[in-house]
Amino acid sequence: MSVILAIESSCDDTSAAVCKDGKILANVTASQVVHEEWGGVVPELASREHLKNIIIVVDAALKKAGVDKKSLSAIAFTKGPGLVGSLMVGVSFAKSMALALNIPLIDVHHMQAHIMANFIDAQPCFPHICLTISGGHTQLILVKGINDMEIVGETIDDAAGEAFDKIAKILGLPYPGGPVLDKIAQTGNGKRFAFPDSKVDNFDFSFSGLKTSVLYFIQKEQKADADFVEKNLADLCASVQQRIVTTLMKKLEKAASHYNVSSIALAGGVSANSEVRKSIHHLGSKNGWKVYIPQLQYCTDNAGMIAITAHYKYLNNQFCTQEVEPITRISF
Ligand code: KG4
Ligand code: ZN
Repeated sequence: MSVILAIESSCDDTSAAVCKDGKILANVTASQVVHEEWGGVVPELASREHLKNIIIVVDAALKKAGVDKKSLSAIAFTKGPGLVGSLMVGVSFAKSMALALNIPLIDVHHMQAHIMANFIDAQPCFPHICLTISGGHTQLILVKGINDMEIVGETIDDAAGEAFDKIAKILGLPYPGGPVLDKIAQTGNGKRFAFPDSKVDNFDFSFSGLKTSVLYFIQKEQKADADFVEKNLADLCASVQQRIVTTLMKKLEKAASHYNVSSIALAGGVSANSEVRKSIHHLGSKNGWKVYIPQLQYCTDNAGMIAITAHYKYLNNQFCTQEVEPITRISF
């Protein structure tokens, strides 16, 4: 039997989860609003917020799970990738708690954990292709096993979430723009404006050209009508969303066909996008592929995904020592 407390603090969400024998009993996340007025995550503010939140969030998760800290088997935490100051808070907290309770530590790779979020409520078969789309990453992963994941495609510039956020900013929407753009897009016509697709080979992505073409298009239209964006906001949002989602699905389909898998999965914060969710189900039924999508609370940054990854590492005796340090950039 194992009871694991997991901590996630890689960016701007402070999260703690409790997992008992692979079942998530609690997943508590404090999202930081302090960044809104700056239009993006301010690393120094993020670490200070983590410091303020971490004890409250851990206490809340233990209470919700009905677990006393003395009955914990291990403490898991996000080792990276992420912002160094943010990671440092979670790593230091986890190390101290493990030391005080004299229990083992489990270090978890944030991107592996996003993929593992699909294993919280399901058992996807191997191999499958997972499309991981977040504010910092856009990756196509061939998942051959829990400890055997290979990046087969990724963005060469902006991540999908970054593209949503930056274009939303160009359209004058508040940060984080992705969810706001998604909501407005639902009342618009996605076929109204044809923004160009990127010309990147293989299974890689590029979104920075789209951002520039939206900016130039708007600047041109605003010369003729200063209120162009306000008057056409819903169609602009829907057209941008359609372009991003079509590109994501095209590459996902190409990779899944190439690797001859029978299942596809989604991970990361952009999985919350309504059009992405609709389109991946469509792709699955068109090709006869099984589709896996984590619950919304496990799509954006959360400790539940760290806890489930740690559960499997615990079963394999994969622990780390007190010498462990955060690593801002790590591959699988
Ligand atoms: O995985 P995540 O919570 O944090 C990172 O590790 O980056 O992803 C956050 C990203 C942000 O860019 C946010 O705008 C985007 O996910 N996002 C969305 C939606 N909900 C969150 N993008 C488009 N549509 C949404 N509904
Ligand atoms: Zn993430």
